[in-house]
Amino acid sequence: MKLITAFIQPHKLPEVKAALFKDGINKMSVSNALGCGQQQGFDETYRGVKHTINLLKKVRLDIAVNDDFLDKAIKSLCAAAKTGKIGDGKIFVTELSQCIRIRTNESGNEAIG
Ligand SMILES: Nc1ncnc2c1ncn2[C@@H]1O[C@H](COP(=O)(O)OP(=O)(O)OP(=O)(O)O)[C@@H](O)[C@H]1O
Ligand SMILES: [Mg+2]
Repeated sequence: MKLITAFIQPHKLPEVKAALFKDGINKMSVSNALGCGQQQGFDETYRGVKHTINLLKKVRLDIAVNDDFLDKAIKSLCAAAKTGKIGDGKIFVTELSQCIRIRTNESGNEAIG
C-alpha cells in the first residue's frame, strides 16, 4: 500500500479528479494548502526583488492506493495536472503500513480498495 500526496494548481482539480475517476481511483482526500517550490513562491518576474518566501495557494490530494494502482494513479495525475509551466506541482509517494475501515474493521488491501 502506498500513500500518494500531490500538490497541484487549484484550477486543475476538476481535470485531475475526472482523470482519477476514469482510472477507477475514486477515494481521496482534498484540502487547500499553501506552499512554494524551488522558485520560493515567486515567478521569474519577481526574482530580482525577492526578499522572503511567498506562499502560493495549492490543492493537496491524499490518495491511498493498493500497489497495483500506483503507476496508473501517478500517470493520470501527471497528465491531467501538467501545463508545462513552473508551479505545476509535485507528487510524493510514501509506504503505507496500515489502513482500517472503521465501520467494518476491514484492514489493509480490503479497506483501501
Ligand atoms: N520539497 C518539497 N517539500 C514539500 N512540499 C513541496 C516541495 N516541493 C514542492 N512542494 C509543494 O508543491 C507545490 C508545487 O511545487 P512546484 O510545482 O512549484 O515545485 P518546483 O520544484 O518548484 O517545480 P517547478 O520548477 O516546476 O515549479 C509547492 O507550492 C509546495 O506546496
Ligand atoms: Mg515551483
